[in-house]
Parts: sequence; structure tokens; C-alpha cells
Amino acid sequence: MCGIVGYAGPRRATPILLEGLKRLEYRGYDSAGIAVGQAGGEAPGSQTGRGGRLAVVKKTGKIAALRSEVPPELPGSWGIGHTRWATHGGVTDANAHPHLDASGKIAVVHNGIVENYRSLRSMLEKEGVRFASETDSEVIPHLVAKYYSGDLEAAVKEAIARLEGTYAVAVIHADEPGRIVGARNGGPLVVGVGDGEMFLASDVNAMIAHTKEVVYLSDGELVVLDPEGFRTTDRQDRPVAKKVDQVSWEAGAIEKGDFACYMEKEIFEQPESIDRALGGRLEADSATAKLGGLNLDRRQLRQVGRVRVIAAGTSWHAGLVGAQLLESLARIPAGAELASELRYRNPVVERDSLWFAVSQSGETADTLYAMREIQRKGGTVLGVCNVVGSTVARESDGGIYVHSGPEIAVASTKAFTSQLAAFYLFTLLMARMRDLSQADGARFAEALAGVPAKVEETLRCRGAVQAAAKKYARATDFLFLGRGLMYPIALEGALKLKEISYVHAEGYAAGEIKHGPIALVSPETPSVFLVPDDALREKTISNMREIKARGGPVIAVGVEGDDEVAAIADDFIPTPRMDPRFYPFTMVVPLQLFAYFTALELGRDVDQPRNLAKSVTVE
Ligand code: F6R
Repeated sequence: MCGIVGYAGPRRATPILLEGLKRLEYRGYDSAGIAVGQAGGEAPGSQTGRGGRLAVVKKTGKIAALRSEVPPELPGSWGIGHTRWATHGGVTDANAHPHLDASGKIAVVHNGIVENYRSLRSMLEKEGVRFASETDSEVIPHLVAKYYSGDLEAAVKEAIARLEGTYAVAVIHADEPGRIVGARNGGPLVVGVGDGEMFLASDVNAMIAHTKEVVYLSDGELVVLDPEGFRTTDRQDRPVAKKVDQVSWEAGAIEKGDFACYMEKEIFEQPESIDRALGGRLEADSATAKLGGLNLDRRQLRQVGRVRVIAAGTSWHAGLVGAQLLESLARIPAGAELASELRYRNPVVERDSLWFAVSQSGETADTLYAMREIQRKGGTVLGVCNVVGSTVARESDGGIYVHSGPEIAVASTKAFTSQLAAFYLFTLLMARMRDLSQADGARFAEALAGVPAKVEETLRCRGAVQAAAKKYARATDFLFLGRGLMYPIALEGALKLKEISYVHAEGYAAGEIKHGPIALVSPETPSVFLVPDDALREKTISNMREIKARGGPVIAVGVEGDDEVAAIADDFIPTPRMDPRFYPFTMVVPLQLFAYFTALELGRDVDQPRNLAKSVTVE
């Protein structure tokens, strides 16, 4: 899960590469580097040789560290860059990309894992090649050099034919000015088409400031680009005609604006992002939902006997909510599973099951591989994705885009509530085809349309949540507890806190604590309870009392005016009263804010927490 950029055009490549890397920093941020081609002229750090030369700068740390190492006026009008999230080899300057061949004329950036790198490395070492890093990636420039005889494209084809595993690569040669060769097999790669200049990157964020015309490469495709244009070929070397897509959002969508960090911005954007997810999909007259991308007609949907969701992390939590809702409202048996588990247990793919692969990035390896396994067994898999053109989106049999807009912070917030919106829409559609009456459907649709306004109201809890975060910031363990639809929200609250504040937290079904976790309760271990005014309210209140009786502090996220809950809790965070089926949208918000403010209190890097990356393209 590294990030790749490339530029070829009339401008100085360095600032464009550095800016692109900054946009991709969310993908990995332990080290970064650039290689810039110079058709003439000397530059500090350049690898000399015949013809052109490459200036290479690599540095551990974030892009800012790399930026301070790069000579201010470094010349060169084509180049590649990389931001790394270490897999093979520690975090060192030498292990940072780009990697070079022995002559220093070929530079490669790589995202993915070369699974057979040990055998390739020992083969190359026997041939006299000396390696400069511990990475799997470094075999690639040496392989390209081995096959190079004046044609970079041909050499890259030969080299990648020998790679096993996943990759997105970009390669340049000092003697082939303005040319970049890219190839993908399992890692995302997008071409940006500019006016007399071309871009290449792991995602469109890196190039949106320069062009909105993009081409998504598919697995097995190779691209050769130069300032004048690009051409793509497949594994059999046949030309592939590609469609140029238009990116629908503006560069401003990836600016922080007045917010301190992206996570805060994205939390506060949720009223609009949920609105976008619902946009034009609710049909008031027939009280149902319209989801054109499913690629299934009513007859096929009517035959669905079971819904199964696969996902990871936060997306799995959205799937857990979706599955509960489908069962209770559409009366379809449904469940959500971790993709990383499902993939290796030879799942039964029943004829009448409909599968959903939920993924914000659409690149999560666990989800993608599980999806392919189900498709191999003949199952139909729909994607619920945010990133347009992502691998899950393209390889699924249909699906629902959640339209949250770019989510930059590593911790997922607005994508989660938009994923929920997708499941609520799908549930309405399925329920209306089964037992839900027009009148009940209309009530559900109206409440769903009202969710963005309720989330807007909920965001007013900011001050109360910040105070609670301050009060409990020194606690080292938390419990997050809820029942029914609030159980996945408890899991999500615990995950958010763990990932950005590094504080240990357990999400649990509130009814389950007496079976073990209650032993953790003490005055030092706060419990965060989710207490909507639903059918399970009394049961949840009993669980709160159990914790209080054992001296555990209780923070309750409840419904405004619920004096009973407020009286039991040490801290009460009110949220607006609403149709109980919709509380997942609002009650997750104080938990997102709680994690955010706790992380701030503890001085953490909120947007880029340690050890994590935004899209996890390794297993
Ligand atoms: C949590 C988080 C991760 C992701 C998980 C799946 O805040 O960001 O748990 O939810 O890695 O990622 P996607 O949704 O891109 O498949």
C-alpha cells in the first residue's frame, strides 16, 4: 500500500511529483523518494552515465522530510515518485523507492509485493548483481536492466512477465527522455491526460490539480506515456483502447479548508456526503429506492434468498448494520463476514445468495480476493465502493457507489455513513418488493431523507464530546457497548479510538459483558454506552447499572431528553430523537468525535496514525 506518481511534460517535474506524493501520503508515509530524468545538465545527487541522467532523492519520514532534501531548482521534466509503507525491509533511506539498476539509469517505483523475489534475487546475485536494499521491489530494476537493449517498454514487459504477486509499477530510463512505462497487476494505476503533459498515479488525488481526464488501467495492462499521449497493451501485447473518464469532483474536495485535519473535515462533511449518497435514489411516489448500478432486474432481486456481506474494518461494521436491517425490514436472511476469514475457509456459495463486497477504497486485498473467490464459485457480488474506477468497483457484477467524495484521513468516517446510506436504500428496495407496504415504505423513505439534517444536529455535540475526551484522555482501556443496531456502532467506536489515539478499546455487545468483559470494569476503565430509545433501551440501561455498580465510569450517548439515562451516566452526550432504525447514522458521530478529540489530547497524528495506511493492498 504505497503510492506512485509520474509526470512527463514541459514543466519541471519535481514540484509536481512532490505535490502528487503529498496527496498520496495517506497510502503510506514511512519514507518517500523521487527520480527525475535529466536529458542534459548536471544536478546534485544525479547518477551519471552516457546520455541522460537520473537525479534521485530518497528519505525516511514524511513527504516534508523528502522535500527538504530535494535541491530547490532540481531540473528535469519527467520523473517518478513513491511514498512507502514498509512490507519487506525496514524503514531506511536505502529501502525507500525509487530503486535503481546497477548503472543508475533505470529507476522503478513499485506498489505491491513480489512474492517470488527471493528466487529472482538469488538468480540475479548469481549473475553478479549487487543489491542496495532489502526490498522485494529492487529485483524489478535489475530485471529491467537484464532485458534492456534500447527499448524500455520491451524490457519492462520481459521483467514483469517474471514477477509473481501484485504490482503497480512505473519505470523510467535516463536515455529515453519523457517516457514512463507503467504496468498493473493487482495495484491501482491511473493515467492522467493533460494538455501536452501526462500523469500517472495510484489514484486521481495525485493529479486532480492538473487534469480531470483520467484513464483507469486494468490488471495485466501496460502503459507507455510521454508528453504527447499514451498507449496501452495487454499481456499478449495487443493494443487496448481505453475510455477517458472525467473526474466529477473539484481539486477543492481534497483541501482541508478551515479544519485542523482531514478527519475533522470529513466528520463535519457527513450531512452533505450522506445527502450525496442518497441523491436521486429515493422514489417518493412508489416509496422505494432506485439503484441503477445493481445490474439486476426485479425478477432477479425477487429470487434472492440470502444476502452476504464481505468487508474489512469499518466497512465490515457498515455491513453488520446492513445485514441486521435487511433481516428485520426486508425479512431476508443476511450476515456480514470478515473478508480475510471468508477467503480461506472455502465458503459455501448458495445459488440464491447475493453478495456485497464493501470497500471505501475498492482496493483492499482481503476484500478483493474474497470477492474473486466467490465469483469463481459462480456467486454474484455487488460492490459498495467510494472510489470510482477502483478494482472492486470494476470487477464486481454491479453495485452502489457511495459518493462520499475523496476520504483522505486514514480513519474512515464519512465513507462509513455513506455505506450505511447504500444499505438503507437497498433494504428499502428489497423490503418494498416483499412485505413492506407503500405507507410503511414512505415513512422509511421520509426518515432516510431526513438523516442528513439529523446528522447536522448531532454535530452540535462537539463541545460535550470534547469535554468528555479531555476528562478521560488518560484512561488506558475503554469498553464500547451497544445492542442490536448499536452493536456494530460500538465496534466502530472502539476501532476509531484504537486506530488514531492508540488507546486500547473493546467493542462488545452490551448483553455479552456479563460473560467475561465485566471483569475489566474498574474506576479506571470507562464504558461508552449507546442508548437509543429503541426496543432494547431497558436492557441496555440494566447493563449500564451493572457497570455503575462495579465502580466503572459510564459515558452514555443517548437521546435528548432521556433524563433516566442522563442520571445514571457520569457523562451524557445527547443526540436528536429520531426513528430508532436510523440511529446508526447519528450515534456513530459522537464516537468519531470522541476518538478525534482523544487523539488530539494525546498529541497523535490524527490523519496519519502510526502503522496504518488508507488502502491496504496487501493481505
Ligand atoms: C478504519 C479503517 C479501516 C478500513 C479497512 C477497509 O477507520 O479505515 O479499518 O475500513 O481497512 O478499507 P476499505 O473500506 O477501503 O476496504
